[in-house]
Amino acid sequence: MKLIAPSILSADFSDIGRAVELAEQAGADLIHVDIMDGHFVPNLTLGPQLVAAVRKRTRLPIDVHLMVENPRAFVPPFHEAGADWISLHVEATAHLHKDLTMIRDLGRKPGVALNPGTPIQTLREVLGTVDFILLMSVNPGWGGQSFIPRTLDKIRELKAWLRKERLEAAVQVDGGLKLDNLEETFRAGMDIAVAGSAIFEAPDPAGTIREMKRMAALAAADKDG
Ligand code: DX5
Ligand code: ZN
Repeated sequence: MKLIAPSILSADFSDIGRAVELAEQAGADLIHVDIMDGHFVPNLTLGPQLVAAVRKRTRLPIDVHLMVENPRAFVPPFHEAGADWISLHVEATAHLHKDLTMIRDLGRKPGVALNPGTPIQTLREVLGTVDFILLMSVNPGWGGQSFIPRTLDKIRELKAWLRKERLEAAVQVDGGLKLDNLEETFRAGMDIAVAGSAIFEAPDPAGTIREMKRMAALAAADKDG
């Protein structure tokens, strides 16, 4: 399966419910919500209240990307707010295994995120603990940045490693994904595409999601065939 996860960071915050409904109707698979604390990344964004509000407007799984220091402190409030998938950064915690296990024990899907400058080798001890790995393809903090091309090799290396270890974890890629680089990123092995500005700043957000879904289906068929 190849999935599309619209990131509401680039949606109109005065009408977030409508953006979420539009994404669901257009066939999105997940709603990606970027949480930034002004410390781990320079920007400040959303909290559990927003996730609880989104929860009321969609049946899609909510994928919370924690770009915060001390992520452990924020796992319970986002769990209570209705997050289904929760990822935290390897660079943000000294207790990676413990924090990921906490997410699993709460019945949510744990994911581990890596900044562009962090090697995949840092995942070694938790590779079997997570449901997904989020590779940042921009330096986190803002939407609308350019895709870092080196990410393609990182995806290939990670997929080869997962295959070797016979692990099923999905590879999510986040940052700078657009219609014109989606196909090659899927071909490199991406399973889940996160896209913010390419969707919500497009003249036709729903049409863009439908087109991304079409590309995801083609990539999935290609892989199976
Ligand atoms: C960046 C966030 C992304 C962001 C992606 O720090 O983690 O999820 O919304 O935005 P685009 O798709 O515009 O690069
Ligand atoms: Zn994100």
